[in-house]
Amino acid sequence: MTIYVDKNLFHLQTRNSSYLFQIMANGELGQLYYGHRIHHKSAYHNLAQREQHDAMASWTLDQPDFQPEMLKQEYASLGKGDFRYPAYQVQAPDGSRISELVYQDYQITQGKQRLPHLPSTFANDPQTAQTLSITLMDAVTHLQVQLNYTIFPKFDVLIRSAAFKNQGIHSLMLKQAASCQLDLPDAHYDWLQFSGAWARECQLQRHHLHCGQQATSSLRGASSHQANPAMILARPDTTENTGEAIGFNLIYSGNFANQIDVDQFQTTRIITGINPEDFTWQLKPQSSFQTPEAVISYTNQGLNHLSQQLGAFYQQHLVNQHFAQQLRPILINNWEATYFDFDETKLLKICRQAQKIGIELFVLDDGWFGQRDDDTTSLGDWFVNQRKFPHGIDHFAQKVHDLGLQFGLWFEPEMISQASRLYQQHPDWVVGAPHRHLTPSRNQFVLDMTRTDVVQYLYEQISAIIEQTHLDYIKWDMNRNLTEIYSTQLPPVQQQEFNHRYILGVYHLYELLTTKFPQVLFESCASGGGRFDLGMMYYAPQAWVSDNTDAITRLKIQYGTSYNYPLAMMGAHISAVPNDQTGRITPLATRAAVAYFGDLGYELDITKLSSPELQTLKKQIQFYKKYRQLFQFGKFYRLLSPFAGDPNLVSWQVVNSQQTVAIVGYYRILNEPNPPYRRLYLQGLDPNRIYQINDLEENFYGDELMHAGLFIPRLLHSTMHVEQTADFNAQLFLLRALS
Ligand code: GLA
Repeated sequence: MTIYVDKNLFHLQTRNSSYLFQIMANGELGQLYYGHRIHHKSAYHNLAQREQHDAMASWTLDQPDFQPEMLKQEYASLGKGDFRYPAYQVQAPDGSRISELVYQDYQITQGKQRLPHLPSTFANDPQTAQTLSITLMDAVTHLQVQLNYTIFPKFDVLIRSAAFKNQGIHSLMLKQAASCQLDLPDAHYDWLQFSGAWARECQLQRHHLHCGQQATSSLRGASSHQANPAMILARPDTTENTGEAIGFNLIYSGNFANQIDVDQFQTTRIITGINPEDFTWQLKPQSSFQTPEAVISYTNQGLNHLSQQLGAFYQQHLVNQHFAQQLRPILINNWEATYFDFDETKLLKICRQAQKIGIELFVLDDGWFGQRDDDTTSLGDWFVNQRKFPHGIDHFAQKVHDLGLQFGLWFEPEMISQASRLYQQHPDWVVGAPHRHLTPSRNQFVLDMTRTDVVQYLYEQISAIIEQTHLDYIKWDMNRNLTEIYSTQLPPVQQQEFNHRYILGVYHLYELLTTKFPQVLFESCASGGGRFDLGMMYYAPQAWVSDNTDAITRLKIQYGTSYNYPLAMMGAHISAVPNDQTGRITPLATRAAVAYFGDLGYELDITKLSSPELQTLKKQIQFYKKYRQLFQFGKFYRLLSPFAGDPNLVSWQVVNSQQTVAIVGYYRILNEPNPPYRRLYLQGLDPNRIYQINDLEENFYGDELMHAGLFIPRLLHSTMHVEQTADFNAQLFLLRALS
């Protein structure tokens, strides 16, 4: 890993990638190259070359061949003849929106500092990262911009962000502040993005880039179910196991935009960051604005490798280190078991049963507080519901702990119900615009998280409950998006700061709680995957992937999520049938075979199960515990995609780091009469080892399984807790190396 600086040239070289940019003739920064690692030279004239074109603006009269529209820029401004999406926009007091960011100097530091007030990457050991900061300045407005780049030797990952500082004497208005811009020299890419909806998150879309603008974004106040901040550009022939791909993601949970602009010369500009729509930031003299960080990652070894690289990187440089490598507990959550209809006695029955079958954590979901018996009341009243817990929540927690189970609680800190004590006391804490009615969603409203008194109130309330109950785990939910965005605390000129300030408030509360209670494991949730992003991952090492617990639709959701997030982040539960979201009846074994690949949990009333069913659960739990390290932290390979090829067949695999144990999940959704002949090609095995699979008599070399494949019989059966059913069939192959 090296950062080379040669006069005007900056070359950030990781194990397999090179990122190159230079100071151009006008003093601004120009992008030269991002891709497979190349040798370092002191100049790359070839990469900097451009031709003069007609009908195009030039920089000055005496520089006719310096045409901004022809240039690959590093952080493009608006209104100086570039005409593509800019990376930032700033308005001067006279109304002008023109600026020129001219190079001043650079600094290289060993290591990577965390960003203040924002989730960010870090390097606990300074030897594991190197950071380059470039300072740029606009001479007219005195706007200073620092572009920050960090590389990590073990990973082909680049972290970028920008910090703005007003060095002048007049206030400036920042109207856009991207985290990252990347200008690529061609447009021969497929764009992989992860759109979705509630209960249908992360549905991979793969399309060839087309001329013009294309984007995914959120204006919901959260990263959203509808568009995940992650995206990938892959060459059209890139597969899971071969080819070039560049991954992008943001360490951010609020409104974002990923904009792609394919211009008239078929070059591609990518801009990622806070959504410029409904965003401004007042930069008073000497004040600063820091953008969230963007993650960029390169591979020429296919999409599986890209995902594995990112997952390993996050575990080391983003996730709360207290939990990063820690095995996640097997939990039972009472939501789908009881919904709001429970009391202490009913829950303790579930807990006792859970303890008997080996479950480790009991999570008490929505409805334990205030007067809450349905979703119309009590959000904000974070004190115990006396009717359900007459002896107090501490008493109940003690009972759970006495059983040897950990105890977890659900909170929805950012929300308020009109029918709540909090609303009576602080109606002014609700987000709402003057003279406009409030738009309800799930009967609830949003607290103004830009206010320090709101954050302080929540911190105190939640802290008290954590202390009373000796809490081990918190599920932090967020069940609606933001409307009537406005804060009574902000002057009119700063109202468009609301969205970003809101999410800073959320992060602040997370920061306070995770600092005071480092032992509490947080799981983030927003009606399932409505805020499944890297900003949340920094505080909450796991997240609820989807409210949809149906094993068959989960195949797509988990498959799509796996492109950008590691298995250890994905909460996956086994629930009852018929499934509450789809009505589908799937075998218990299939539900398990899907939920194993993540942080396993149960979400059904286990007191209603028959004793053979309970025995099955017990076996599932024993099996999962034995291979938990593999399921949560193993190398994950996608084998057969529900988004391409035959959507009836899905397969994936995990392998341990020594390549001695692997587990393959193979799912056949509907039975087919007289099906085609099929072999499954495995990945990531040691070609020279011999593997035993389940109880098959024949043993196999790794190379044989990867290249010749494993025959998949028509009648799927196995000794591995899999029932023989026609539809919704799943099979697990457990591979153990014999040599
Ligand atoms: C959201 C969550 C669910 C559950 C309910 C409770 O929908 O995603 O898992 O916690 O809220 O109201």
